[in-house]
Amino acid sequence: MGKTIDGFSKLSKSKKIEWIVDTYFSNKEDAKTVLKQYWNSNDKLQQLHDEFIENTITNYYLPLGVAPNFLINGKTYTIPMAIEESSVVAAASKAAKFWSERGGFKAEVISTKKVGQVHFIYHGHIEKLKKFFRVVKPKLFQDTKSITRNMELRGGGILDIELLDKTKAIEGYFQLHATFETLDAMGANFINSCLEQFATTFKTEAAKSELFSEEEKEIQIVMSILSNYVPDCLVRAEVCCKVEDLIEEDVVSSEKFASNFIQAVNIAEVEPYRAVTHNKGIMNGVDAVVLATGNDFRAVEAGVHAYASRNGSYSSLTHAKVEDGVFTFWIEIPLALGTIGGLTSLHPLVKLSLELLHHPSAKELMQIVAVAGLAQNFAALRSLTTTGIQKGHMKMHLMNILNQFNATQEEKAELIEYFKTHIATHSAVVEAIQNLRR
Ligand code: MEV
Repeated sequence: MGKTIDGFSKLSKSKKIEWIVDTYFSNKEDAKTVLKQYWNSNDKLQQLHDEFIENTITNYYLPLGVAPNFLINGKTYTIPMAIEESSVVAAASKAAKFWSERGGFKAEVISTKKVGQVHFIYHGHIEKLKKFFRVVKPKLFQDTKSITRNMELRGGGILDIELLDKTKAIEGYFQLHATFETLDAMGANFINSCLEQFATTFKTEAAKSELFSEEEKEIQIVMSILSNYVPDCLVRAEVCCKVEDLIEEDVVSSEKFASNFIQAVNIAEVEPYRAVTHNKGIMNGVDAVVLATGNDFRAVEAGVHAYASRNGSYSSLTHAKVEDGVFTFWIEIPLALGTIGGLTSLHPLVKLSLELLHHPSAKELMQIVAVAGLAQNFAALRSLTTTGIQKGHMKMHLMNILNQFNATQEEKAELIEYFKTHIATHSAVVEAIQNLRR
């Protein structure tokens, strides 16, 4: 049985572990050993990780892999990917190689606008509110000058602030809907600081305004927060080649391959059950690069799936066509990313990943991430519409199963060889290990 505790956050790390181990574990020493074996031997590095979050007791490793041979807008990249799922990095690498021999990926950033909102309640004459907004709007810009000065010097800042009437949805509900350009920063802190200042100025000025009656002055600020829905922070990536150039092993007819592939994409465009899995495969690539570069994958996930539903039904993020004998496959995806601020200058592996990517700007990173998603989707659809997904997946998963059985290097070598010519289902691998050990 668990129990509650007061003042847990104030305990030292070792006392926190003592409490957890005493409360929840029967083999206390084993639990402690597992937690401690993930501590970094470099105390400074460990402290850095301890301080990223609260109540840290250990580190949780994810493998950091790399997918080489990505040719994007004529530049070659090796892409870092932090992910626990086998096959993903191999699939990305294979798709990268395939397209590097067919002109590579083309990517362009369509827009980089981010959004933040002050949500408030006002019960009064709408015309008075509109007039007040026109009067106070310059002051909203003015009062945020100390926050926006540096961003403006670099070419970014607040783009616009609008008053939105949401009273059809909720009585008295209005918004200050602001748009921002945050350049190479993801910009969450910048946007939220601006919004909180808007809210303060708006409320203070309303209280003083002669436009309002005493009751109307009682504007209730509900909250001020950025939106992770960023349909205007959008990037497009594509690949194309002549249909006949799609030929390779496992592909008997390039025409048939192209038409099966396009059908698979069409299904994901109209069928939400398939679209979710289709997009999940895209996010295998997207999230892995987002994580490796220290960006907020939850924000990206939330924004991407909202975008995938923007027309009222959840749909594919990728599209494909054949026109005049040319196969084109593309993705449009909203990505609010940063290459400065946040973890980017703190986490040694994030710094290393960004250096590996030639220190990209946020726009360049948007292109790289979109390409990683497109490559992943290409690899998944190619397997699904030709050999089926399990052949490649189980080959990669083989190592996980062998590790579960503590296979020795000799056993691994022998079984990897064996499963080159046999189908590697979970039970087949288990049986093969048992046979080998008999
Ligand atoms: C598995 O992680 C991802 C796939 O299911 C994606 C897809 O079905 O397109 C293979």
